Amino acid sequence: MNLLPRIHLLGTGGTIAGIAANVMDTTHYSAAELDVDHLVAALPEVAGLARFTTEQFLSLDSKDMQPADWLKLAERLRELINGASTPDGIVITHGTDTIEETAFFLSLTLPRRIPIVMTAAMRPASARSADGPMNLLQAISAATNPSLATFGPLVAANDRLWRARDVTKRHTHAPDALGGIETAPIAMATGTTWWLSPHPPTQAVDAPFNGRLPAALPEVWILHGHAGAPAALIDFAVEHGVRGLVLALAGHGSVPISWEPAITRALAAGVTVVRASRIRAGAVMANANYDDTARGTIASIALSPLQARIMLALTLADSAPRNALQSLFARN
Ligand code: SIN
Repeated sequence: MNLLPRIHLLGTGGTIAGIAANVMDTTHYSAAELDVDHLVAALPEVAGLARFTTEQFLSLDSKDMQPADWLKLAERLRELINGASTPDGIVITHGTDTIEETAFFLSLTLPRRIPIVMTAAMRPASARSADGPMNLLQAISAATNPSLATFGPLVAANDRLWRARDVTKRHTHAPDALGGIETAPIAMATGTTWWLSPHPPTQAVDAPFNGRLPAALPEVWILHGHAGAPAALIDFAVEHGVRGLVLALAGHGSVPISWEPAITRALAAGVTVVRASRIRAGAVMANANYDDTARGTIASIALSPLQARIMLALTLADSAPRNALQSLFARN
């Protein structure tokens, strides 16, 4: 009897599956060219690690990933996790460009029963010293470790394992582009899992939207603050019919005086407004230098604008009452 863990490998595209015309070219290439069977076939050593089922779920450059794709992906993963023959772990290949968004969405919506490890690469599969094969190998190895399940979806890249909420793309082309800003990875993942945080939580804290996947996500836009940014952007978004706005503001989520009347109009129109920061480190605290309670705005706390947009879309789809919103931002 083969007692190796059963891993489901699900491909979505990205540079990890990309091909360039020559081995030195790491910038001109076509992403999402190879399917996941091809990627795993290039790693004969995984036969000693696990048994595999594979599925090419999407073939995308992740810049084109849509919220509707997140919903379909979460639906499929829930089916796998809750089905009759649950795998021991799931590995998802993805592009680096938006892996942090997909990972965060999945971390809010999936049950934390088995390890789910996402991975990606900065260099196409055809490059000399491509980073994809080792990242995939490390993701597979991590997915065979049941103690990782309670963290929710993780991202494996460059010998490290990151929680979804801690990982971001920090560089446009360097191979170590994925990482944290103020946070450490939870573990080194060099074949063996070397814990960097004291130990994994023994009991999974349920993802806040586990079992509550909406049919569609409401439109939430991110508006980027800058010197002289026109307040008309807010009015345009409201006229367009957005349900929520995330303002990626300067400093500590500091609202320009010129934006105040448009924010008042947006709130009066029933649009939920989140104050976030365009700075990736630090946090935007509620009611610090801005009276969120009196104004009716939400502070993003430690969520980036990208994460705040996902959290807001899910809370709006779930009709969470306003007084519950701020605490959801604080906890997740
Ligand atoms: C993508 O995100 O699909 C392309 C870029 C990458 O994977 O690094």
